[in-house]
Amino acid sequence: MSHRFKSVPVRSSEITPKETYLSRRDFIKAAGVIAGSAALLACAPDAAESTPEVAGVTRPAFSDELGNPANTFEEITSYNNYYEFSTNKEAVKPLSESFNANPWTVEVTGMVAKPKTFGIEDLLAMFPQEERIYRLRCVEAWSMVIPWNGFSLASLLKAVEPTSDAQYVRFETVYRPEEMKGQGSPFYPWPYQEGLRIDEAMNDLTLLATGLYGEMMPNQNGAPIRLVVPWKYGFKSIKSIVKIELTDQRPNTLWNTVATNEYGFYANVNPNVDHPRWSQASERRIGELTRRETLMFNGYGEQVADLYADMDLSLQY
Ligand code: MTE
Repeated sequence: MSHRFKSVPVRSSEITPKETYLSRRDFIKAAGVIAGSAALLACAPDAAESTPEVAGVTRPAFSDELGNPANTFEEITSYNNYYEFSTNKEAVKPLSESFNANPWTVEVTGMVAKPKTFGIEDLLAMFPQEERIYRLRCVEAWSMVIPWNGFSLASLLKAVEPTSDAQYVRFETVYRPEEMKGQGSPFYPWPYQEGLRIDEAMNDLTLLATGLYGEMMPNQNGAPIRLVVPWKYGFKSIKSIVKIELTDQRPNTLWNTVATNEYGFYANVNPNVDHPRWSQASERRIGELTRRETLMFNGYGEQVADLYADMDLSLQY
């Protein structure tokens, strides 16, 4: 794993005011670390073949463990899935601008010896921020390489001491229909929720991300804290988490509830199991012209294949 970008600040007193954050971004731009990308407007899954390669984008100097260069800050923060704000990936950024992620608390509860509600500043102080460059493969067959900052979910779960009955972890996004107009949509069962089996949750790859590119998490990417499960389709990586519950019941998940035959509970990246409406064999990396072959478990098989050794992954998708 590469560790070549700077760490996020870790104390609440250092939470970046928006003006500072914006000027920092301008500084990064001026320094030529990132460049704008007009081509992102054409990134709907169906437009894949006709999307021109992003012209003149300087890729950051660092890459993931397979040598894939990271996407730019601009790409990662301008093309987002966040249905609470909009179903249009380019609209999420402007619509989430005034979302208020500070103050913030995360309740960790259920089958644990030490349930506790943590302020975001407590979490930042308790768990040293790590830097991890992960591929994110969306179920819509596009992908990005994202330099996250955060800490392992396992370290938080260990702190609250799950009981021996706990078999699953359930996550819930904040419910604020006034600020998140998408939550007014009757087509989805709000709040967004997700779940993992406890061994998946305890795997070291599973990250609670609090930032990217060394900046606090941008609103559109799930401020102030979101899950990142790099071997699963992106919809498992739930944003703006307010509740984490240990349970012995398999949690309902938003996408599994909405379309059971299309989105399974496991949602492991699997090029051999197609989505009922499209192939999962290849993907388009944002900013690239040529499609890539999708890797089993998104390329993280060495770390996670054992978790599913006894399962038929075409049935338990
Ligand atoms: N979390 C919430 N609360 N709401 C969402 O709509 N979209 C998911 C996931 N987490 C989503 C969410 C999907 S489909 C993907 S692909 C990733 O977030 C996208 O993360 P990104 O926009 O930061 O790249």
